[in-house]
Amino acid sequence: MAGNWKMYKTVKESVDFVKQLDEKFKGIQDREIVVCPVSLSIPGVVDALRFSNIQVGSQDAHWENEGAYTGNVSPSMFKDIGIKYVILGHSEKRQYDAETDQRINRKLKNVLKNGLRAIVCVGETLAEREGGRTEKVIETQLTGCFEGIGLGDLTEIVIAYEPVWAIGTGKNATPEQANEVHVFIRKWIEAKYNQEAAGAIRIQYGGSVKPENVKQLMGQPDIDGALVGGAALKVDSFSAIVQF
Ligand code: PGA
Repeated sequence: MAGNWKMYKTVKESVDFVKQLDEKFKGIQDREIVVCPVSLSIPGVVDALRFSNIQVGSQDAHWENEGAYTGNVSPSMFKDIGIKYVILGHSEKRQYDAETDQRINRKLKNVLKNGLRAIVCVGETLAEREGGRTEKVIETQLTGCFEGIGLGDLTEIVIAYEPVWAIGTGKNATPEQANEVHVFIRKWIEAKYNQEAAGAIRIQYGGSVKPENVKQLMGQPDIDGALVGGAALKVDSFSAIVQF
């Protein structure tokens, strides 16, 4: 269960917040919990969670480890500060920062090379869904993002299915709609890799996950976790989701 904080919370707010989460989540061993704050807050959050079962992720990372890339942070730098996960290909990066499948693929390779885990996001827009192109869009995104990624790397990758029309809109996909796409993603993994890998890979759903709908979503056979935006910003809602 991962929280994507997007561009919310100052450093102080972030540190205070994770201290409260840590209290709530003490002793939870049967599920992985990840928070992905703004880069600026990551050192403080990692420090506050040093003895915690909550892991820390970043919302992006560059395809190089250093260089003349103004405004970016590299996986090796994140690794150095103690993070475990990197979100890649979020639809907001695709929409506002011209992120492409090819760039996500380069970033993914560098994240893996640095020994970090990736959460790779895919998802269709409303126009694509209404035009009956959902599977085609997901297939194109997966093909681009996983180009040259070996079977051995899959244990370090989580896929997040996030229909763009459900993100931040309050309109979640129905559990059945979400599961249908998760099945499609699993079949794609099976065709490219093998059945075992398809069964083992974790696929999260994201898009207006709330305490009210998490149970039904997580009740679907192919939904293994959630990537949570808005509802991850409050202690009560995020802890209800994590402990659904
Ligand atoms: P949301 O965002 O939960 O606010 O819809 C999900 C996401 O963008 O990862």
